[in-house]
Amino acid sequence: MRIGVLMGGRSLERDVSLRSGRRVSRALAELGHEVLDLDVDENLVPTLKDELLDLVYIALHGKFGEDGTVQELFEILDVPYTGPGVFSSAIGFNKALSKEIFQREGIPTPPFFVLSEATFQEMGAVHSLAAAGEKLGFPLVVKPVAQGSALGVKVANREDELLEAVRSALHYDDRILLENYVKGTEVAVSILGNEELEALPPVETVPRSGFYDFDSRYTPGLTEYYCPARLDEEVSRRAVETALHTHRALGCMNVSRVDIIIDGAGVPQVLELNISPGMTETSLLPMAAETAGLEFKHLVERLIKLAMEKYA
Ligand SMILES: Nc1ncnc2c1ncn2[C@@H]1O[C@H](COP(=O)(O)OP(=O)(O)O)[C@@H](O)[C@H]1O
Ligand SMILES: [Mg+2]
Repeated sequence: MRIGVLMGGRSLERDVSLRSGRRVSRALAELGHEVLDLDVDENLVPTLKDELLDLVYIALHGKFGEDGTVQELFEILDVPYTGPGVFSSAIGFNKALSKEIFQREGIPTPPFFVLSEATFQEMGAVHSLAAAGEKLGFPLVVKPVAQGSALGVKVANREDELLEAVRSALHYDDRILLENYVKGTEVAVSILGNEELEALPPVETVPRSGFYDFDSRYTPGLTEYYCPARLDEEVSRRAVETALHTHRALGCMNVSRVDIIIDGAGVPQVLELNISPGMTETSLLPMAAETAGLEFKHLVERLIKLAMEKYA
């Protein structure tokens, strides 16, 4: 097949995307496909129209790659693409809307409030922070509504740390989430499939710094990974069921990765669903696939097959 690999882009996760994209691109070439690396610029659509690609692998991360906008473009141009469709992408990239759906669906997720930049600029929302802190309890997590790779995510241990965390999150998005801090075991569960779903074994992440931030994710050695996660059988089963439920609730096709913290009572609290999981050397989806006996290039081949099936 003639396959374009879309990578880079202008999001803050550009470098991560280039690492995912180049690795996918190499795997596709090894599999015998004809591969065209595509970056995001004003020539993208003209190139797509000229090249008559059979499929595009979306290796973008972050805004404009994961939020449904690029997916919409491929719908218009009638080009098959990997990963969930427009709706699932738009919801998945918006943690506030995702969490609303989780709550409606009975998927456990930490209690939260959402505030916009305008409420601070024009409505004095700073005076609501004490009440929000009191309701949620400390510590709490402040994060941008639509961002990835833990960029702009901060823990506020006390009320006097809240404003600083809010300011920092507002640098990354004009809407922010204040969320109850969950102490527990962090795992990611990746799901593959369209109608028939397969959950890969949960991957447990234990960052040395205690926080799974940007550096812990992409610098080898800064995080210990356990796959399968060191969970009781029952808790692991519950995490997998919850991830499958989350994938279905957002109407995902092809693939997703559900980020979860197992709380002290063994309940899998869902933080978010990613529609374009990282494919770098330290990324969690390839790690889980490997444990399930699916080496990287076969994972990529599987994603291609699922995308063609979705298109048909
Ligand atoms: N409610 C929470 N309680 C404890 N840690 C959290 C919470 N929310 C996020 N974190 C930490 O911050 C990281 C990033 O948060 P997440 O919601 O997954 O956003 P993203 O990965 O899109 O940046 C998580 O991997 C986790 O380590
Ligand atoms: Mg995450």
